[in-house]
Amino acid sequence: MRLAILGTGNVAQMLARRLSETGHEVTFGSRDPASKGGLNAPVTSLADAVAGNDVVINATPGAVSLEVAEGIGAAAFAGKVLVDVANANTPSFELVYPNSSLGEKLQAALPDAKVVKTMNTAAMTVMTEPGALPPSSVFVSGDDAAAKATVASLLAGFGWADDSIVDLGGIASARGAEHYSLLFAAFMQSLGSPNFNIRLVR
Ligand SMILES: NC(=O)c1ccc[n+]([C@@H]2O[C@H](COP(=O)([O-])OP(=O)(O)OC[C@H]3O[C@@H](n4cnc5c(N)ncnc54)[C@H](OP(=O)(O)O)[C@@H]3O)[C@@H](O)[C@H]2O)c1
Repeated sequence: MRLAILGTGNVAQMLARRLSETGHEVTFGSRDPASKGGLNAPVTSLADAVAGNDVVINATPGAVSLEVAEGIGAAAFAGKVLVDVANANTPSFELVYPNSSLGEKLQAALPDAKVVKTMNTAAMTVMTEPGALPPSSVFVSGDDAAAKATVASLLAGFGWADDSIVDLGGIASARGAEHYSLLFAAFMQSLGSPNFNIRLVR
């Protein structure tokens, strides 16, 4: 699959490395592509990255992701799968959307995109290498079943077993997954490490 990743930070680079390892072709979209030499995939402008790829991963800071997407423009995202892994928190780790979610905001701003929220509940090492921990869960929220199937295939490539992928429902369900960031931060503080995850058991 050919994918764009918006952002060139830690998560973007980790995703690019694992996607390349699992047979995908990645292009980064950056605010300043000329300054991003030496990355593990080509870097273009944000707009070109979206224009050239049908699957786009949002790996920008969640507090600015909506602004970034609106800057690229809703028309550019028409028909595209937008895989949103971002958490929208303030620097003091408050929720930017306490009564909503970034996933819902992105879907509302980009009505012709197929937004799928996923992987935001795990540290970047865990999201791309789940086999490093005992079996745990990854969550998927989105209104479009085919887009969620595309995301499930990417997750499978990272090593997420079928029964570890929990479909939470429509994009409105991203709210719970995003608000988990508060508990994630508490776990991290308590454990002193981001190398953990949760599992849905029943
Ligand atoms: N770190 C984790 O383990 C983890 C786990 C789950 C989810 N997440 C989420 O993944 C996203 C990315 O996290 P990260 O740790 O990779 O962040 P990061 O290292 O700060 O990278 C974010 C990238 O987004 C781009 N960007 C676009 N607009 C920006 C703006 N206004 N200000 C700053 N950067 C901007 C930048 O790339 P350019 O300079 O090339 O434009 C930057 O390198 C966040 O939403 C985070 O909540 C992180």
